[in-house]
Amino acid sequence: MAYTVPKLKDFSPDALDRAVESLLSALESESAHLVTRASQPSISAAEKNTQFKEYRDRWLARKDGIVTQINELWLKAAPKEAKRNVGQRLNSAKSEIEKNVEKTKERVDFFAKMSLQQLRSVELLAGAGSIDISLPGIRRPIGAEHPIIRTQNEILAVFKNLGYSVAEGPVIETDYYNFEALNFPPNHPARDTQDTLFLANQESKPRREQLLLRTHTSPVQIRTMEKLKPPLRIVIPGKVHRNDPPDASHSPMFHQIEGLAVDTNIAFGDLKGTLDHAMKALFGSDVKTSFRPSFFPFTEPSAEMFVSCFICGGSGKREGGPCRPCKQTGWIEILGCGMVDPNVFQFVKDNGYDPEKIFGFAFGMGVDRIAMLKYGLDDLQLFFQGDVRFLEQFA
Ligand code: PHE
Repeated sequence: MAYTVPKLKDFSPDALDRAVESLLSALESESAHLVTRASQPSISAAEKNTQFKEYRDRWLARKDGIVTQINELWLKAAPKEAKRNVGQRLNSAKSEIEKNVEKTKERVDFFAKMSLQQLRSVELLAGAGSIDISLPGIRRPIGAEHPIIRTQNEILAVFKNLGYSVAEGPVIETDYYNFEALNFPPNHPARDTQDTLFLANQESKPRREQLLLRTHTSPVQIRTMEKLKPPLRIVIPGKVHRNDPPDASHSPMFHQIEGLAVDTNIAFGDLKGTLDHAMKALFGSDVKTSFRPSFFPFTEPSAEMFVSCFICGGSGKREGGPCRPCKQTGWIEILGCGMVDPNVFQFVKDNGYDPEKIFGFAFGMGVDRIAMLKYGLDDLQLFFQGDVRFLEQFA
């Protein structure tokens, strides 16, 4: 029921207080109602402004507004001896009313200027119950760098200090980059050693366009040489996949860091010196490196590099028993490497890689295995299970 100004019979201070109190509480509830309507998305901004003006005129219009009415019905009608007191009460009531109308205008304007989308969010929040902005927020514990990423960054830092840049490439790769341009001819048996996971339904495409999960980071060698002219010094971190069932030392997904240095004057000695320096930086200045002949289609000659076991110091024994990480040999295999095969440069010769003039070395290492050695773990799966009790030890 809308408020109407009553006629007063009793002009005593108490009666006056009661009359002013019911007047002001009518004002409060009217303006609250108006603000609530203003917050609704279903009412247009123009309508909100019209409703505000109606409310303002109802209370403040010179002709017949409620303020004018209380002057007529309460002040003018008051007996002489009560006039002074009535006048003072009405003046303070009037300024209350003006303040209230001003505040209501601000609130209605606030909502009238909101977009429909904002008003809908307000509606949703209000519908979910009242919002207590004094409640503390939800604290989420800060995570720690995963031990594999930490190890990866440490290895990258060693090479950055030698002037290498970081390059990356896609995990879903074509047969061309993963095999063909790395000198794995179609149907060559070396492809079988890679336990490749192929994407389904690729049979209708030409061989070189067929998609697979890259089995190593080496395809990024080609991708980078297609984009950048020699000389080149890059390291390439990333995920790789192989069709290996998970166990303590295998995972269908793991991480590699590839290295590639290309210039006119690169020799096998540069490869040995670079990697020997890197291993000392990573595992301590005491470790030795050893290179043993191996085979990769994209390097010639190829080698596997071992570091002297930094667990047993190369003795193969530990606390009287056998040293497990090096299988009692005193050496740990860390990576594959070699001089870039000229057949690989053939695929990028148009970008300045003339196989007659350009030489390079490349290497590729498993980050996960290095992280296991560094942290003394015997189960690779710990890295991938997401157990917070394991991971928080690296925080
Ligand atoms: N890509 C090889 C592998 O995954 C490692 C390697 C990289 C070997 C670069 C030689 C040169 O086994």
